[in-house]
Amino acid sequence: MRRFVARSCEEGLGKRCVERVSSVQFMVRDNYVFVCLNRRPADHPKGSCADKESDSVLAALKEAVARRGLAKDRARACGVTCLDMCEHGVAVLVEPAHVMYGGVHPEHASDIVDAMLRGEVVDALVVAASSRGDDESR
Ligand code: FES
Repeated sequence: MRRFVARSCEEGLGKRCVERVSSVQFMVRDNYVFVCLNRRPADHPKGSCADKESDSVLAALKEAVARRGLAKDRARACGVTCLDMCEHGVAVLVEPAHVMYGGVHPEHASDIVDAMLRGEVVDALVVAASSRGDDESR
């Protein structure tokens, strides 16, 4: 566990606030993998990731994280609502790398987690990688 002190608290409310906040511990992982679980009506024109079995993708990512012993402090896979990449679903966002994957299936889970650990991406699945800075041609 890491201690967290909000700078605005330190600057805005003084030492007493800092002492109180610093006594609170957060389980902050190094990496997060967010999987869209949004479900829309079957006839909705945008479709939804849940209709493409995003729950299975999330389960596979959780298993991949756990199998590598990362769940305690290095990585967490979480379900979220719409990531606004509906046409590319199942949409998966990896943070803090800020990489958006699309068309993800459960069999991609190990590749996504392994790439995350290496600081790389699974190029075939990338929809957007705005902060990588290593290739401006994407
Ligand atoms: S429904 Fe999954 S990104 Fe919008």
